[in-house]
Amino acid sequence: TSIQPFDMVLFGGTGDLVMRKLLPALYHQHQDGSLPEQGRILCLGRSKADQADYLSTAENAARQYLGDYFNDKDWASFAARLLYLKLDAQEKSAYAALADRLNEFPEHVRVFYLATAPNLFAGICENLSSVGLNKGGSRVVLEKPLGHDLASSQAINAQVGKYFKEAQIYRIDHYLGKEAVQNLLALRFSNTFFEPLWRREWIRDVQITVTEQVGVEGRGDFYDKAGALRDMVQNHLLQLLCFIAMEPPASADPDAVRDEKLKVLRALRRFGPQEVASKTVRGQYKAGAAQGKPAVGYLSEPGIDPNSKTETFVALKAEIDTWRWAGVPFYLRTGKRMQERMAEIVINFRQVPHSIFQQPTETTSNRLVIQLQPEESVKMYLLAKQPGDQMKLKSVHLDLDFDEMFKARRPDAYERLLTDVIRGRLTLFMRRDELDEAWKWVEPILDAWEGSDEPPKQYTAGTWGPAASSALLSRDGFCWHEEG
Ligand code: BG6
Repeated sequence: TSIQPFDMVLFGGTGDLVMRKLLPALYHQHQDGSLPEQGRILCLGRSKADQADYLSTAENAARQYLGDYFNDKDWASFAARLLYLKLDAQEKSAYAALADRLNEFPEHVRVFYLATAPNLFAGICENLSSVGLNKGGSRVVLEKPLGHDLASSQAINAQVGKYFKEAQIYRIDHYLGKEAVQNLLALRFSNTFFEPLWRREWIRDVQITVTEQVGVEGRGDFYDKAGALRDMVQNHLLQLLCFIAMEPPASADPDAVRDEKLKVLRALRRFGPQEVASKTVRGQYKAGAAQGKPAVGYLSEPGIDPNSKTETFVALKAEIDTWRWAGVPFYLRTGKRMQERMAEIVINFRQVPHSIFQQPTETTSNRLVIQLQPEESVKMYLLAKQPGDQMKLKSVHLDLDFDEMFKARRPDAYERLLTDVIRGRLTLFMRRDELDEAWKWVEPILDAWEGSDEPPKQYTAGTWGPAASSALLSRDGFCWHEEG
């Protein structure tokens, strides 16, 4: 379906997210001809810059982030959609001017994207409502982090909820916009292969890994207060876990899908201090290497407290107390300054109940690997006979490479999510109760770490994390995918 005429208002319009992700995403959609002619992008910022200054900053950023997709002609037509407005988001009186601009086109879908610090969300929503901009079909998009614990997240949601109804609120988790994550839904719910096997009887363990090579990248101040558990696990990794573990929803309706995700979050076994000690590993990188160059340790990064105990790596063993998943460990792992940038989901199936061949089989005979990054692919590992007069088995794989298969540009997550907001599709956004539940699960871990004298385990930058991460699995007789 085509996209309706819209006005997209970007709060934090001069910020990094807008320059690096949002404008490039909208440019791509424009270039592909997906945006309607009547579609304006209003960029708000506090700086005195005028329209010309803003356009030249945006153009420089676009050249950098769009690479070969940038061209002068498309940029010129895209830039005609951009409108810079100087506005102090905290100043109520400034909003009348914004309302005037928007009321030029009362029939446009209105989207307010809050790409600002979360402590401004409540004020912005209140100010929008003071000039009636929360009415009708208007939508508000909230970027993470939505708080730093359950209480602060609930406070933000309650304040935003005073001015916008839940159906108007789009909480972004950009992982859900990734093509490969949606493919996970396609894989599970449009094929008959997998669903009968998708349960404890046939699956031995699940591994979800999201590793990065980058360090804290100039976000030291923010990151040191957050850490990997809040920054990645509470949202991205748990969302992936939900997509893997949820029951088949009755439809793709937003609430049908989100109800099923919520049930998974509720069934995640809560950790007491004992479990935190035995089932989680927190790590912090020390000096090492990144992409062949020396890299400093976390404590020497700018903006980091030299005594910081903030984790840059987490590995943990989660369990879901349901009939489908009882006894199946879900190992989650994420870290900065790791050996590779990689995001993948590994489903290890059980051994055959009885082997008629003498040969010892490998750790697991069947494995499904869904890679999200750097490439998007699905690999199915099987055992096959090697040519020859003996029954020698070898692990081989069927390889589905999406780039090869579809030979089409792979849209960035934000392209999908931004156009979903304009279209009013909530399925790939987090509902308030999901967020609460995710925080409830994460909080005991945060508390136990905070209360513990034990420092995070060190790992050398450019490796797969602390040794304790491998030990977490080897204790159960397993190993991480790249180890076996
Ligand atoms: C963000 C985190 O949510 O996700 C960053 O705040 C992290 O710390 C980023 O680098 C990773 O996203 P992606 O899409 O590059 O895997």
